[in-house]
Amino acid sequence: MFASTTTAIPESVAVPRHVAIIMDGNGRWAKKRMLPRVAGHKQGVDTVREMVKACIERGIGYLTLFAFSSENWRRPPEEVGFLMNLFVAALEREIGRLHANGVRLRVVGDLSAFEPRLIDLIRRGENVTAENKQLTLTIAANYGGRWDLMQALNGLALAYPEKAGEYAESDLAPFLSMSYAPEPDLFIRTGGEQRISNFLLWQLAYSELYFTDKYWPDFDAAALDDAIGSFQQRERRFGRTSEQLLAVDAAVSPTPTFSRNAG
Ligand code: IPE
Ligand code: IPE
Ligand code: MG
Repeated sequence: MFASTTTAIPESVAVPRHVAIIMDGNGRWAKKRMLPRVAGHKQGVDTVREMVKACIERGIGYLTLFAFSSENWRRPPEEVGFLMNLFVAALEREIGRLHANGVRLRVVGDLSAFEPRLIDLIRRGENVTAENKQLTLTIAANYGGRWDLMQALNGLALAYPEKAGEYAESDLAPFLSMSYAPEPDLFIRTGGEQRISNFLLWQLAYSELYFTDKYWPDFDAAALDDAIGSFQQRERRFGRTSEQLLAVDAAVSPTPTFSRNAG
């Protein structure tokens, strides 16, 4: 179990341990090129591959990608169908390469809505890569932050009915679908919108938020570095004051450094 940012102050890190991304803007990327929306989704898979590589190279331990939200079923059936087929094709093609690169694959979300063939592929991919340590790649598919909280709450209530009314944060945490990962240090949304769209509601409590106008198919390793650069400029206070952070710094190094933005 990883410590929670609301019950313990995490160690400060230069490179985020966990990056969570809302991959948005595929449709507009395609539209700009007079292509059908789905061409953007297809192109977006290449960006996923590039991000996995970039995260490994930068020593990022966890990459979480929002691929399909619980609300995306509202889209035209042809687009939903295309996305499902793309997911199957990408898994079939990429699992071997992910495994060869030491990537552990996890898929979070309500998988019960998927075709048996897709569920089977997901489970096989997770099993094959289960022991890999280089990077944990989580794909959020038919995922919603509220769905996650509700399934966790129901799991907790069923497991410990006698404690109802006294549940603590730490009781709920193990039932959340990403309990195997630390909370994201850095959240990125591409495509220009500045909203969470029902992504990781619980886990983003103290994440640094970064928004870029770049469409997902145009996002690349250099754009990731821009986001990490922005992250490195942030003062993560977790409720404390700047002065307290400077005192912690001074206690750690004999000559206090004033590089931190004390504003
Ligand atoms: C994100 O791109 C991919 C999914 C939601 C599956 P969009 O398809 O939302 O692209 P825009 O936002 O319409 O440009
Ligand atoms: C969020 O993008 C979901 C994914 C990227 C999978 P959307 O395009 O569905 O979000 P909204 O509808 O603009 O909020
Ligand atoms: Mg969108």
